[in-house]
Amino acid sequence: MRRTMILFAGIAVLALLLVPATSGASGGAGVRAQATSSSGDLQAQGRGIYLQSCAACHGPDPNGPSEYSSVPSLKDVGGAAAVDWAVRTGRMPFQSTTGPAIARGKSHFTEQEVHALSAYVGQAVGDTLVPEVNAGKGDVARGQRLYGQACAACHGMSGAGSALGGENIAPTMLGVSALDVAEAIKTGPGQMPPGGGIPEYAPTESASIQQVNDIAAYVAALNKERLNRGGVPIGGKGPVPEGFVAWVIGLGLLVLVVRWLGTRT
Ligand code: HEC
Ligand code: HEC
Repeated sequence: MRRTMILFAGIAVLALLLVPATSGASGGAGVRAQATSSSGDLQAQGRGIYLQSCAACHGPDPNGPSEYSSVPSLKDVGGAAAVDWAVRTGRMPFQSTTGPAIARGKSHFTEQEVHALSAYVGQAVGDTLVPEVNAGKGDVARGQRLYGQACAACHGMSGAGSALGGENIAPTMLGVSALDVAEAIKTGPGQMPPGGGIPEYAPTESASIQQVNDIAAYVAALNKERLNRGGVPIGGKGPVPEGFVAWVIGLGLLVLVVRWLGTRT
């Protein structure tokens, strides 16, 4: 009788402690789902971020002129894909009105904010396409051949990158994701030509998508090979998933309650 009551008390305490944690986690997921399902809200959010962080250089209207002759108008740089790439890789917002903006860094925005910003600019300039890519569907050997023909002259066969003259560099492929590859090929940032030198590249053609998958698979293989050789840190781990902390605390409490029950018998 006593043991049963203690057991129920223990379960009640656990339930109380776990409820706020789990409802907090699902609340977070709900916010994201809402933002993506309501495109009006997404556009408004993207516009707000644009006006605050980008307009001072790129002009109040992404589809209009920029504020400085040394800053490109966003109508000319490759739409949503260019914004997604430049902001995700931490190149934008920039601190200077003259390029090249070559340093890769940590993004200043959350994934959801980047999504809103690229959706807003993409719609404003009439190019919302973020290219499709799946390195898992690529063939490394074909990718290596294509990369050798189209990309190696600038980025090096091992992906080490190279200096292109002036302050321009073709950056390393180390730490580059499949999406970075696809977006760079579609938009041709800086001195890189749109299409990256792939013959007859067209971002929505299945033949081009396959070629991009092949190259992405080769770039992923380069990254893996370097990591296996050791010494290169994997940067940018994602945020701690919501709910994970709650579970650790919850499980810890469970262990404590079980131990407490154990000592009572
Ligand atoms: C202080 C000025 C400044 C601010 C603020 C700024 N940019 Fe830029 N942006 C530049 C300059 C300069 C370039 C040209 C860089 C180059 O030539 O490499 C550029 C280029 C770009 C490009 C083209 C990248 C490429 O290499 O093709 C994109 C896309 C872009 N900016 C998006 C943004 C977005 C989105 C924001 C706001 C989050 C932003 N920028 C804020 C100055 C700025
Ligand atoms: C003419 C030289 C040139 C060629 C050819 C070229 N690139 Fe680039 N690439 C560049 C330059 C320069 C940049 C950096 C632009 C910037 O930062 O504004 C770049 C950027 C990139 C990035 C972004 C890296 C990062 O740090 O985010 C990727 C990925 C990339 N290139 C892949 C490729 C692939 C794949 C090919 C072949 C299909 C290719 N490039 C062909 C010059 C080149």
